[in-house]
Amino acid sequence: MKRKVTKAVFPVAGLGTRFLPATKSIPKEIMTLVDRPLIQYAIDEARAAGIEEFVFVTSRGKSALEDYFDDAPELEAALREKNKTDLLAVLAGTYMESGAIAYVRQNRAQGLGHAVWCARQLVGNEPFAVILTDDVIAADKPCLQQMMEAYEETGGNVVAAMEVPPAKASSYGVLDIAEDMGSLVRVRGMVEKPKAGEAPSNLAVIGRYILSPNVMTHLNARKVGAGGEIQLTDAIAQEIVQGNPVYGFRFRGQRFDCGSKAGFLQATVAFGLAREDLGEEFGQYLRETVALRAAAQ
Ligand code: G1P
Repeated sequence: MKRKVTKAVFPVAGLGTRFLPATKSIPKEIMTLVDRPLIQYAIDEARAAGIEEFVFVTSRGKSALEDYFDDAPELEAALREKNKTDLLAVLAGTYMESGAIAYVRQNRAQGLGHAVWCARQLVGNEPFAVILTDDVIAADKPCLQQMMEAYEETGGNVVAAMEVPPAKASSYGVLDIAEDMGSLVRVRGMVEKPKAGEAPSNLAVIGRYILSPNVMTHLNARKVGAGGEIQLTDAIAQEIVQGNPVYGFRFRGQRFDCGSKAGFLQATVAFGLAREDLGEEFGQYLRETVALRAAAQ
């Protein structure tokens, strides 16, 4: 029988060097799209998918991230005094019940697989989700929720997947497809960061996973893979070797790579345009700016 997935792991130990100097003093996950930190998008998506326990794999310099989920009584009192009920509601969405959130340290950067493995005691012998906060997905139904619905049918392991241009495949984990069933594909192998021309397909893994606890066991081997790091992709691929199913799930939604500056800017534009309070003015500004640029060329 399949167990309900109630735990999610958020690997947030990365240094975020691509966003220096900002990340000199703020964790990358606190950087905002419009006015919400990346981590808030990830938490909201996890909650919508039924996640009740949130495990953060952190590192040095991430205290702002830990503080983010605490109650803020002084701020709350000030808002209450001014009758700012809308802002009080915004604040309420950031709170985490004590005990629902746990932090575990990754003592040294050894790859995504190692980061996930750091959460093994807290995850225990249960299926669990992994969310990479760099991958922000705008969708009518949140991506992880779509995946949970698919997982209800399939069990096993489900990874989010998306077609990428062949030239970009070497930046991702890439799926070797055994059977393509439309939104779901059955996977026969997975390659992390394949060399140019060696990708088994152009269906890339995106940062949402629902995994069997076996994956933690595979990570116990701490096998070093692509880039000299312990790769989550390799531990998931080990499931296939042992005869356990892995599925790729083509989610419905738009994914932004907020681990890159260009992706972060694109997400900022998309989320800005989607906002009821900003979209119109911002849209007009963008149209004018683009027209001016075109005229100047
Ligand atoms: C990680 C995973 C990779 C996946 C990607 C999605 O890579 O290792 O398999 O395709 O996230 O964003 P990273 O972007 O951390 O190099």
